[in-house]
Amino acid sequence: MNISQKPKENLSFRASGKLLLSGEYLVLAGARALALPLLFKQTLELEAICGFEIHWTSEDSSGVWFRAVFDTETLNDVSPRAGLKGHKETAGFLARLLRNARELNPGFLRPGYGYNVRVSADYPLEWGLGSSSSLISLIAQWSGADAFELFRSLFAGSAYDIACATSASPLFYQIIPGETGWMPIVSPANPGPALRHHAYFAYLGRKQDTLSELEKFSAEAKYSAAEIKRITELTARICQAERVEELCRYVDEHEAILGKILKRDVLSFSFPGFPGAVKSLGAWGGDFAMFVSRLSPDEVRERLKAFGIRQVFTYHEICIEKPRPGDEMRIMGNSQAHTPNGKTLSAAWESPSNIAFIKYWGKKGIQLPANPSLSMTLSKSVTRTIVKAVKGPEPFDIRTVNGATDHPFLPRMRELLVWLKNFFPLLGGYSFEVETGNSFPVSAGIASSASGMSAFALCLLDLAQMIAGRETEQDEFLRMASFVSRMGSGSASRSVYGGFALWGETPLLPHSSDEWAVKLHSGIHAGFRGLQDAILIVSALPKQVSSSEGHVLMDSHPFAGSRYTQAGINLKECLDAMHTGDFEKFAGVCENEALSLHSLLMTSANSNILILPASLQIMNRIRIERKKGLPLCFSLDAGPNVHLLYPMDYSDRVSDFIRDELLQFCSNGYYIPDQYGQGPFRIRGGVKQFGDE
Ligand code: DP6
Repeated sequence: MNISQKPKENLSFRASGKLLLSGEYLVLAGARALALPLLFKQTLELEAICGFEIHWTSEDSSGVWFRAVFDTETLNDVSPRAGLKGHKETAGFLARLLRNARELNPGFLRPGYGYNVRVSADYPLEWGLGSSSSLISLIAQWSGADAFELFRSLFAGSAYDIACATSASPLFYQIIPGETGWMPIVSPANPGPALRHHAYFAYLGRKQDTLSELEKFSAEAKYSAAEIKRITELTARICQAERVEELCRYVDEHEAILGKILKRDVLSFSFPGFPGAVKSLGAWGGDFAMFVSRLSPDEVRERLKAFGIRQVFTYHEICIEKPRPGDEMRIMGNSQAHTPNGKTLSAAWESPSNIAFIKYWGKKGIQLPANPSLSMTLSKSVTRTIVKAVKGPEPFDIRTVNGATDHPFLPRMRELLVWLKNFFPLLGGYSFEVETGNSFPVSAGIASSASGMSAFALCLLDLAQMIAGRETEQDEFLRMASFVSRMGSGSASRSVYGGFALWGETPLLPHSSDEWAVKLHSGIHAGFRGLQDAILIVSALPKQVSSSEGHVLMDSHPFAGSRYTQAGINLKECLDAMHTGDFEKFAGVCENEALSLHSLLMTSANSNILILPASLQIMNRIRIERKKGLPLCFSLDAGPNVHLLYPMDYSDRVSDFIRDELLQFCSNGYYIPDQYGQGPFRIRGGVKQFGDE
């Protein structure tokens, strides 16, 4: 890019502060914790400027505390002598953070750009509300790097604060340790009346070095599996408690267990006579404490003033409260270990989403496609799922998904399990618990049924085979997994393969089937391997209409017959284009399919317009750019977000195009730089075991 051109990029990101209510320390050993994202937040404002430098300013509620200049290419601190405000160590940390983000996403901060960056905390930094982790979250949002990976590249710790930074509700947080890493599991929590009406959060002003606390804990603390289990139970009870007395009891018990493990006095000793319970939050002796009491807010403030405490917040004053409708449970991070112990078996899989070039839209028979579809499996947009099978005495059923009985996928999962029992009757002796979540942020407006149902199906099939004492070789296993996934969600049948997959019987491909998808092993031009898919998030709101409803509308659609004929013709064209490497032809078919899908949606009996003005702007600009010679095209799922497809070799030029022309249409400038993926992975002993490729 010519430096006289100013990149059009003025973005802002937001990351909440946090408080850890329960499960501190033991969360590192697998206990479930309860955490609150706070109304206090840090924001990062980004202005693109001419030049090659990043001009950085950090401020908190008392003003600017750090200022520096970094070279965009080397990320060295190049502040003029009088230009650096604050500590050299802070500049060093920032440089490291930006470099690590660039390592995780090489497209981030390429030379030739300049930025003004302003990071503002609306609270005093010494309050210890997680300013480092919210900064990591901000840089992850800006760079597109995985926030958990970025955190791990810099710190030890459970990273619950990373989950809080972008959460729209209180959350449960748990990590499942493995040999080489851990998998965080995040699910929304819905605190009960006792916590919401009788908990107070007070700043004690005793700064604590959390990292050295954690090191000390890891090196010295002794605790038992029973204590971890009890803390997990107390987390649930503290969250759900209805009455204040109940909550006090659970808080006191939690404090007693931790006090014994840490060999420290519980905090209530420092507040003699306080009528209620007192709890350390996060690292003990740290900045904030929770006071639970029947007293009114004014009375609590009065009592605490006597101990020299002036900053006291009610739950409603400090916490982001509402789980947003449609919020998905999330798991992010690395990997987990699982140990069969005779009674409990578990299986864990990571499975990706996919983007269909030829759309499946309309069904026949029992969950069979009205026309064949063709897709590319993605790499970054994945669901990770663990399914535990517990042998009797509970009845055969899925008891919970992420600890809850109202997860949106639960009814479909249940149906799938019941159906699978016909093939594996021994499953009937077990009950099941599911933990599942997505690598993409909550409310990214990305359909998760392909990744979610395939991850679940893979786990179930694994368990069914473990129980039956049978192991199938890989190709057969994947074919069965595709068959099982299809019953959960049609598009999921294609996600079990890396690269390109076709679902639906067609004379164009021998062995193709309506019952399961098959992988396209050969006949693909090298230019299509490594195809990129930048998912441009136009709206992060949940979908207005589910795909399942859309499929049903096709039954009475006046254009249904011609659509199925068109899909057959487009499939042939698409396969030809992918075989010969003709991107122009591929682009024509792909866009025709995306627009046909939306035309069908718009002209169905229950008409739905899902594309937004910003989607149209993006699609038009993509076409203009293609006319200028850049090989790129768009596709759409049943929603407003645009998938921008292009060959890997053009990544640099397309990244410029996205930043200069398209980001302005994305919700909060957000997009997911996804690409051709390897297919699902079984996760065992902390490592990913096999993908399809
Ligand atoms: C527009 O697979 O979500 O993404 O089988 O009812 O679960 P169900 O539908 P689903 O439909 C996906 C439709 C699509 C096109 C496609 O992926 O082929």
